[in-house]
Amino acid sequence: METQALKGRVALVTGGTTGLGFGAAQRLIEEGAFVYITGRRQNVLDEAVAKLGTSAKGLQADAMKKADMLRVAEAIKAGHGHLDILFANAGGGHATPLEDLTEEQIDSELGINVKGVVLTVQSMLGVLRDGASVVLNASITADMGLPGFAVYAATKAAVRSLARSWTTDLKHRGIRVNTISPGVVPTEGYGHEQGMSDADVAAYVDRVSKEIPAGRVGSARDIADALVFLASDASRYIRGVDLVVDGGMTRVYAGKN
Ligand SMILES: NC(=O)c1ccc[n+]([C@@H]2O[C@H](COP(=O)([O-])OP(=O)(O)OC[C@H]3O[C@@H](n4cnc5c(N)ncnc54)[C@H](OP(=O)(O)O)[C@@H]3O)[C@@H](O)[C@H]2O)c1
Repeated sequence: METQALKGRVALVTGGTTGLGFGAAQRLIEEGAFVYITGRRQNVLDEAVAKLGTSAKGLQADAMKKADMLRVAEAIKAGHGHLDILFANAGGGHATPLEDLTEEQIDSELGINVKGVVLTVQSMLGVLRDGASVVLNASITADMGLPGFAVYAATKAAVRSLARSWTTDLKHRGIRVNTISPGVVPTEGYGHEQGMSDADVAAYVDRVSKEIPAGRVGSARDIADALVFLASDASRYIRGVDLVVDGGMTRVYAGKN
């Protein structure tokens, strides 16, 4: 449902070219926001902006590089002068048995999910308006103990912790910081990050849907609707929370479907 709850707001979505970030950008625009999106691949960025239309602008940037994120902040300053909404979404990781985990994978997952989120928020401090809403993308894996996801899950636990600390660090500016923890939402990342084929994804969706009280996996729109809530004035009294958007998967017994 479209309410124009974000009319006139300016947002940044990191990793806004595919998956949850792209869905978030679409939804923020539907609600009246202008949205800057980032990603590393210029061609994918161009395609995403072409789909999003004139209320979006693409800025090629690697969230793990401070110089890139400061360049993004400069571009926003020159464009709109400020940010009302920041969705630090760029992230990823994949399952690997503990014995096979490499230094490269550990560095890469800590790099994008922790260092990247810290640099993103830090770099935007100069353009975030007092009273802005910052939302970090975490994950239900932080609660779960899923096989092979130890490092990824630990990075997402760190993301939840960052949000709580920043809630106090940014209290004097009225900037609210919260996290969203999506459940299972098949995206492009299931292919290129997890190495799953379309058939693998279909079989997984079929199996896992039975374990989800909502009876289905999530969609990018399910997550984006939660983001709109946390980005809007409707959540004005909410700070430092983790909003789990998983169809009840980690909180409720699914019973027999
Ligand atoms: N899908 C799920 O089931 C699920 C569940 C829980 C949490 N999450 C979280 O949701 C977020 C998005 O995941 P997704 O499933 O939507 O993945 P996705 O489809 O692979 O999208 C990832 C996005 O991030 C960008 N990106 C990756 N590394 C980046 C970097 N270093 N700098 C800037 N952009 C970068 C990608 O573009 P480039 O590759 O071109 O940079 C792409 O736009 C992640 O934080 C993930 O951990 C997902």
